[in-house]
Amino acid sequence: MSNSSMALDVPYTRHFYPELTPAWLDHAAVLSGIKPPERANGFTWCDLGCGQGVTAALLAANHPTGRFVGLDLMAAHIDHAQGLAAALGIGNVAFHRADFANPPPLPDFDYIVAHGVYTWIDGPAQDAFRALIDRHLKPGGLVYLSYNAMPGCGVDVPFQALITALGQDLPGNSADRFVVAADMVRRLAAAGAPTLGGTSIAGALNELLARKSPGYLAHEYMVAGWRPLFVTEVRAALAPLGLIPAGSAILSDFIDGLVLPAAARQTLSAINDPNQRELARDFVLNRRFRRDVFSRGGPRLDAAERAGRLAKTRYALVLPEDRLRAALRIPVGLGSFETPGTGAVVTALSRRPQRLSALSGIAAALGAAPGDGAMLDAVVALCAAGAVRPVEPDPVAIDRFTAVVRDRIDGPDELQVLASSWGTGLAIDAATLRSLAAGSGVAAGSPAWQQLLRSHGLPFGL
Ligand SMILES: C[S@@+](CC[C@H](N)C(=O)[O-])C[C@H]1O[C@@H](n2cnc3c(N)ncnc32)[C@H](O)[C@@H]1O
Repeated sequence: MSNSSMALDVPYTRHFYPELTPAWLDHAAVLSGIKPPERANGFTWCDLGCGQGVTAALLAANHPTGRFVGLDLMAAHIDHAQGLAAALGIGNVAFHRADFANPPPLPDFDYIVAHGVYTWIDGPAQDAFRALIDRHLKPGGLVYLSYNAMPGCGVDVPFQALITALGQDLPGNSADRFVVAADMVRRLAAAGAPTLGGTSIAGALNELLARKSPGYLAHEYMVAGWRPLFVTEVRAALAPLGLIPAGSAILSDFIDGLVLPAAARQTLSAINDPNQRELARDFVLNRRFRRDVFSRGGPRLDAAERAGRLAKTRYALVLPEDRLRAALRIPVGLGSFETPGTGAVVTALSRRPQRLSALSGIAAALGAAPGDGAMLDAVVALCAAGAVRPVEPDPVAIDRFTAVVRDRIDGPDELQVLASSWGTGLAIDAATLRSLAAGSGVAAGSPAWQQLLRSHGLPFGL
């Protein structure tokens, strides 16, 4: 692809994405009835378009049996990623500055992930991206692919085309050009341009600019290859690689009873072809973004194998109690993520992450005995709410990551995430981070935060 189609002059954000963790991807595959990769003797994982490398570096730090690779075209991203790995003193991650079309020698992978990349690159780059997966994904390996989806993003196509065109010849870097072009688009929308008035983005430009950095927005929207795709287009492009759908990393996709009205469920259930059904489902949800998981021919699990694997899956709370309550109160679809088993699950997990099988026992001891099925429903709903996550079966010692986060506070590369000893990362807002580091303030004095950090093997105070 030509470099001019990407925002290569301003760096992207430094975020950790929990959906990219091996435990999350395994969980999605198992929920959809497909066997995840065997990890008893270690595993390999690759992030295509890894950005600043925070997810890859954090996962390398708390998965010592994994080998991690990040690949990205942008020099500033790879410099940051390599600097982070060096500061962490970890040897099980390698970052390469490379184009998908011209990668360095790579091993074969159990997991290949790409977040926010596929619908931002042009056709030839997508071809190279798929060829890379084809060459390097092991049989039974999993792919995570997130992308802007149709039909929800359809209304944004005119906005995106206009802002990219208007920004093209303006002075400054992509972030500067985005700000000026956005102002023109906003004024045109206000003046009554009908297609712009209909887009959710054009209408929310002021708010977007207030919440997100112009650099992020330039990467997000001022990209020549930007084109949202229908789920059927993505599935058709990946099928020749032997990739079959293995569920979704958006866990509410497993709770149709909550997110789809009964009439829609009934109509959808009459569509026999699974790809057509998923496409129609996206129309009901007016889906804007998908996080699809694919398996390279992983064997199907029968009902007993699926239940057995889920019973052994360990889950962790990832929000402090007060935020958890707020997350559960947010209305979703037809109701809320709160189920009859929620209270029992939260109580059982608040001390430390537990296996589903143990959760049922703990709930029974608390006088609530909803049984394994209802426990699973409650856990999946809590996962969909962002309050709970599937994690690794065993903890590892974490020390350097926390020290690096503390050292970077107030610096240009500040990280707002902590590495859990259970194989995930905990997002932490700027104010909480500072008060924890200072050993004082709201968060440091908050028993809910103390409890959460302790349950993730992190010392209270940084
Ligand atoms: C929207 S950003 C997402 C970054 C990261 N995955 C994240 O979510 O934080 C897209 C990334 O893809 C990278 N990229 C785009 N085209 C590429 C190509 N042909 N080869 C390698 N990386 C590419 C960009 O440099 C950029 O870091």
